[in-house]
Amino acid sequence: MCGIFAYLNYHVPRTRREILEVLIKGLRRLEYRGYDSAGVGIDGGNGKQLETKPNTIHLIKQTGKVKALDDEILRQQELDLDVEFDVHLGIAHTRWATHGVPSPVNSHPQRSDKNNGLLPKAIPINNNTYLLLKSFLPTTPGFESETDTETIAKLVKYLYDNRENDDITFATLVEQVTQQLEGAFALVFKSVHYPAEAVVTRRGGPLLIGVRCDHKLSTDHIPILYRSAAKDKKTCNTIPRMDQDTCLFPVDDKAVEYYFASDASAVIEHTNQVIFLEDDDVAAVSDGRLSIHRIKRTAGDHPARAIQTLQMELQQIMKGNFSSFMQKEIFEQPESVVNTMRGRVNFENNTLILGGLKDHIKEIQRCRRLILIACGTSYHAGVATRQVLEELTELPVMVELASDFLDRNTPVFRDDVCFFISQSGETADSLLALRYCKERGALTVGITNTVGSSISRESDCGVHINAGPEIGVASTKAYTSQFVALIMFALLMCDDRISVQPRRREIIQGLKVLPDLIKEVLSLDEEIQKLAAELYQQKSVLIMGRGYHYATCLEGALKIKEITYMHSEGILAGELKHGPLALVDKLMPVIMIIMRDHTYTKCQNALQQVVARQGRPIVICDKEDYETINSSSRTIKVPHCVDCLQGVLSVIPLQLLSFHLAVLRGFDVDCPRNLAKSVTVE
Ligand code: F6R
Repeated sequence: MCGIFAYLNYHVPRTRREILEVLIKGLRRLEYRGYDSAGVGIDGGNGKQLETKPNTIHLIKQTGKVKALDDEILRQQELDLDVEFDVHLGIAHTRWATHGVPSPVNSHPQRSDKNNGLLPKAIPINNNTYLLLKSFLPTTPGFESETDTETIAKLVKYLYDNRENDDITFATLVEQVTQQLEGAFALVFKSVHYPAEAVVTRRGGPLLIGVRCDHKLSTDHIPILYRSAAKDKKTCNTIPRMDQDTCLFPVDDKAVEYYFASDASAVIEHTNQVIFLEDDDVAAVSDGRLSIHRIKRTAGDHPARAIQTLQMELQQIMKGNFSSFMQKEIFEQPESVVNTMRGRVNFENNTLILGGLKDHIKEIQRCRRLILIACGTSYHAGVATRQVLEELTELPVMVELASDFLDRNTPVFRDDVCFFISQSGETADSLLALRYCKERGALTVGITNTVGSSISRESDCGVHINAGPEIGVASTKAYTSQFVALIMFALLMCDDRISVQPRRREIIQGLKVLPDLIKEVLSLDEEIQKLAAELYQQKSVLIMGRGYHYATCLEGALKIKEITYMHSEGILAGELKHGPLALVDKLMPVIMIIMRDHTYTKCQNALQQVVARQGRPIVICDKEDYETINSSSRTIKVPHCVDCLQGVLSVIPLQLLSFHLAVLRGFDVDCPRNLAKSVTVE
């Protein structure tokens, strides 16, 4: 999805070159989100011109990678890169096309007019908004782009040109604009009329502010300024007064830097002090002071935004010695599952604590049904753990694709508990489903990997999976950590049921050895690379299994299709005779998952059916299952684990296989075509 990065230096002298470097680096950190064009907006002018005609804005935009934008910047001969700015706001953006093809003119930032008066950069809003605003502005001069975002720029200008008084603040203007918008957006505004001021706002799209300052800051909680609280009617068009108690600023010195970004990975190399904005917050930096505004106070509003310390390390978002983020993240799984369990599972006395659920666990234990709602890989984590959840909670468990759940207007009741599983915590369908369930009075639980994300903030309670930043578009370590988090929840639900204690202990001890077993599976990498070399020219791969491993089939097939562009299908082995068997012949590549669990005999049956059609399946099996090993032409042998955790081990060979297939086919593993990491549109 689109990515925003902006940088404001206040009494911290920076050359234009340095500012552009910061902006480009910020965009690079956001590349993983998926995009097809990029652009920057900075102050223009050189030498004398800068003194006589300050406050011009220079836009540089390009289709393709951030690298192409960087090259385009170097081609801008009229820009003196050594000019120094004591105070400056630069804005940068990656765009993932929704309205209008990827092209320089459609790239962000979008401008209000050719003089670059007011510039918002935004995550696109929905089509209705586009139509609504275009008809609202009959006299507006011609639009340059096909984007809905440009409409916002035009509207700011319209409101500025028709302002009632000259005192109107930049933040007030933006507030007036956002009241006209429908849909999801995140916006950063820069204007020649408000030099070195930044205004940012969000609804749906994520946005955070990083603060870097060598001096003491005035506060660690920025109080919200409510427009409706302005006492004087005449001032209701302006923002309430700002002073030391309502703004963030350095106390002993003026120097401060602000970073505005769609996610923390773009900010972490500059500062770990961040403020997460809530929907409809309008944050403004004016004269180096940050204030946060809202139109009106509503019940449940938090009266301040805290400065939080990010627990992320720069190294976590670097590739290190790996060729891609996806590869790095696959190999991180022994540690990421440990991080998911850290401080939560006590292997000595077989107990568990999930801090984010402790106030709600009694209520959850009394519920009538669990509904797991998610998209893509996160949905598969729900499918993978459904059986053990049913077993340990003795509750009906529904697993739902968020989009379909919404399409069906699925009945939800007050005594339902709804789980929203999402790596990014920003997926539009999952977020809308969360709001849908909340409106119906159900308890909502977020299972997310992103601190401060919309799902983690809007759910009633939740579990943070702590897998660390996942940059590769194809989700890998988040899947295994979601898997482990859901198992931990299942174990917590039955911790006082005597009859299930032996089973609980077996699973907890399974969790203990899981990281070492993952390492053992990862040691198969070379063998899997060889297998990939035999398969990479094929058109299709079928993956079959059942029971605990049906989810592995779905997830393996999704990994293969999304990064190798080969056709791949995850097939429930129990359904073979009902259609899919017709696909099998001696040429069709088939992978089967056969583990020593309650479906073993049935899986053997399926294997025979495939072999009888001259299929020569590659079987992922237990390394001690000699029966399968001896009767199959090719096997991938994984260590044995307790049945309900075996899916963590069986999926890793398929993650590795998809990775090697993509490399051999010459594709960009981390940025598959047409896909974005965080899908913030429906
Ligand atoms: C596939 C993949 C996607 C995501 C899906 C949901 O590898 O990554 O299918 O799982 O878009 O995303 P989150 O988990 O962020 O809600």
